[in-house]
Amino acid sequence: MRDYGRTKDGRTVEAYTLRNAAGMEVKCISFGGILTSISVPDRQGGFANVALGFDNFAQYEAEHPYFGAITGRYANRIDGGAFALDDVDYRLFKNDGENSLHGGEVGFDKRIWTVSESDSALELSYRSPDGEEGYPGNLDVSVRYSLSEGNALQIDYAALTDAPTVVNLTNHSYFNLMGEGEGTIYDHILTLHADHYTPTDARQIPTGEKAPVDGTPFDFRQPKTIGSGQRSSHPQIIAAQGYDHNFVLNRAGLSDGELGLAARAYEPVSGRVLEVWTTEPGLQFYAGNFLDATLVGSSGRLYRQSDGFALETQHFPDSPNKPEFPSTVLRPGQRFESTTEYRFSTD
Ligand code: BGC
Repeated sequence: MRDYGRTKDGRTVEAYTLRNAAGMEVKCISFGGILTSISVPDRQGGFANVALGFDNFAQYEAEHPYFGAITGRYANRIDGGAFALDDVDYRLFKNDGENSLHGGEVGFDKRIWTVSESDSALELSYRSPDGEEGYPGNLDVSVRYSLSEGNALQIDYAALTDAPTVVNLTNHSYFNLMGEGEGTIYDHILTLHADHYTPTDARQIPTGEKAPVDGTPFDFRQPKTIGSGQRSSHPQIIAAQGYDHNFVLNRAGLSDGELGLAARAYEPVSGRVLEVWTTEPGLQFYAGNFLDATLVGSSGRLYRQSDGFALETQHFPDSPNKPEFPSTVLRPGQRFESTTEYRFSTD
């Protein structure tokens, strides 16, 4: 642990490093639980940081697109920044046009988490008070980052509430398996284990439909490059300026709480592979469409469109307003639990 900086209002931010015997290193800060760096070997054994981020706290405290952060209380979009639960209407902060995105004005990505260390893991906790950003109920959230000897970073999320509320938690890391700052991710070869995705309207809110990927640029059931579809003229790709969609993961045969393979990304030059395993029903595949050459990353290079991709394991966007989607409601006495693993290897 080391001192990483001070917030504008004078609170200390700490930095932690997890390291395994194979040399993989994961860095995390107490602000937003942000993963600031993930260093993994290529097929020759050369290490590179594959996670987009910054080398200083000031940039994390200023505006940025959720690099590496824990997002909540509700990751992704809620239509109109409003939902009803048990006949009570709740109004959230709208920070994405008419939508609430990733928890509102000051989401979990900007909160200071309490961190405790154990052998190969970090335990982060945060109490989100009743009414924070408009959400009901005091919510006690914990997130555990653990690193295995086999180069897997496991993230376990848990939450308890004292009043009915909604919860959707994810980690918002952006990856570039060539190394952060090394250019676009168009030549990465991606596989997504999803027969369906949830199309969105002009405001990027799901229409409620689960559309087959078959015959569309959303069909990643066989490996293909990200670039092949990112330039497609499909109306969904045009509307979101590229991939920025929730995929309905194939979970047939898996029980609740069982990890399923959601995605595999392979970068042919370095040979690096990232597999994403999760207990969640959905995955937002976001191809960094809105990276607009305004932020300088950790290695001093400007982040441009599609210089990184995010694979955000989650429940579907706008579930609080979509009774047909798997429920995100959490009630007192229930425990929210979710696990995602990022498994790194080479091929
Ligand atoms: C969303 C994008 C958004 C990005 C950064 C992603 O999870 O799907 O639309 O631009 O987060 O906020």
